[in-house]
Amino acid sequence: MKRLLRPRRPLIGLMTAALLATPLFALSPAAAAAPAPALIPKPVSQQTLAGETFTLQSSTAVSVVASADERAAATKVAEQLSAQLRRSTGFAVPLANTGAIRLSTDGASSLGAEGYQLRVDRTAVTVTAATPEGLFRGVTTLRQLLPAKADASTTQSGPWTIAGTAISDSPRYAYRGTMLDVSRHFFSVAEVKRYIDLASLYKLNKLHLHLADDQGWRLQIDSWPRLATYGGSLEVGGTPGGYYTKADFAEIVRYAGERYLTVIPEIDTPGHTNAALASYADLNCNGVAPALYTGTNVGFSSLCVGKAVTYSFLSDVFSEIAAQTPGDIVHLGGDEAHSTPHADYVTFLNKTSTIVAGTGKRVMGWHEIGDTALPAGSIVQYWGTDDTASRDLARLAATKGATVVMSPANRAYLDMKYNKDTPYGLSWAGLVSVEKAYNWNPSTLIPNLPASAVAGVEAPVWSETLDDIDKVEFMAFPRLPGIAELGWSQPSALNWTAYKDRLAGQGSRWDALSVNFYRAPEIAWR
Ligand code: ACM
Repeated sequence: MKRLLRPRRPLIGLMTAALLATPLFALSPAAAAAPAPALIPKPVSQQTLAGETFTLQSSTAVSVVASADERAAATKVAEQLSAQLRRSTGFAVPLANTGAIRLSTDGASSLGAEGYQLRVDRTAVTVTAATPEGLFRGVTTLRQLLPAKADASTTQSGPWTIAGTAISDSPRYAYRGTMLDVSRHFFSVAEVKRYIDLASLYKLNKLHLHLADDQGWRLQIDSWPRLATYGGSLEVGGTPGGYYTKADFAEIVRYAGERYLTVIPEIDTPGHTNAALASYADLNCNGVAPALYTGTNVGFSSLCVGKAVTYSFLSDVFSEIAAQTPGDIVHLGGDEAHSTPHADYVTFLNKTSTIVAGTGKRVMGWHEIGDTALPAGSIVQYWGTDDTASRDLARLAATKGATVVMSPANRAYLDMKYNKDTPYGLSWAGLVSVEKAYNWNPSTLIPNLPASAVAGVEAPVWSETLDDIDKVEFMAFPRLPGIAELGWSQPSALNWTAYKDRLAGQGSRWDALSVNFYRAPEIAWR
């Protein structure tokens, strides 16, 4: 039932006729000889269609072919494309029954949920996928095929020409994420949306939000209201913090969902919990609430493992969070519990992972949880720095059936400084150049971890030193697209020298999008 709304294809449409009437020799030699555009992530296969170009015209429309159950979502993808092209080209770019830009979900299911095919020739741009999500991924490729100024938010002048190409594409890993730490510094809904917009351009599909840490609790919890109202009141440095109301969080989840990013909420436990302990005295073993904390130390706080209230608290919190999370993963933290004796840590995690699993969600936690009972379907997030202890925990988790998401701190932590002169960021995991962030293989980084256990990659952005989204952009760009490529592209496509050249081509795009990116001098930005 994929053909319900297939538009009748006229033998020759008006636009098609106009384009066919353009003699071949009218193509400028430059356009005809244009190199294949520099796509990130690199597609599985891309062929140049010599002599073919498509030029968006003031009359170009977008058409959607989708079955009834996919029509609304596919139309949303078309509307997003159309809205962006309207902003930058000044053309109407309407949705219509027939259009030279065609989005169709009648693609083969062998493409997978995220795969797509894209063909650009002189008559049409056609994106074909098996699902609206696949269409969305294909549209992100289409945006990169267009001139960079097509990403601008104000009207630019054309021409809007795309070199002829045939692309077939699908991801290497199912999990391709980034994390934003909204606890150390709070980020407004608008800032989170901006980050979602940028992450979605590189085909990432998970947005992990680190919602609670020592410095702030950032999500309204009705059953424990002081967590947000008091525990969220400050941030690092003592400036006012903030929290997301349930409506705010729903808006983030909705906005991310429309860009095919699933939100993974994290409440870090049993350590990194000063904000909760400060909000409710009863959660402390000694019954005394500590002061709010606005420094950047770690490892000093712990929930009280022996108290029953700890687990009724966690049960309340995780069930409210699960109810607001359409995705199937909830993250319970588990890292750096240096103030929790190890036996207590294991007792605590075994109870808490059971609570999370009881909400119907898959448990995700940092690699320290590898040492605890892992409910079926658990995901362990490796954040080691090539050290044996961290690798052992990831391997142990895999032997218990968990999958591993790779976030090696010395490669994928985007809050690490690029070099010693980077104005913000940290360096405890080392300096992470653009090359270092890109030049590794998620499936072979941990020796003797079966490649089949690797679910994918995630690039966390911790915010101890980052107090606004401009600084987050500076740390994430240009490194985030590299992690995105590790997650999407085939290992045979990964090559620093070739990547560096494709990356250089993103600079003008980021200028058009007003991204505050780090102009790494080793990249020949164009
Ligand atoms: C972490 O960086 N403590 C997960």
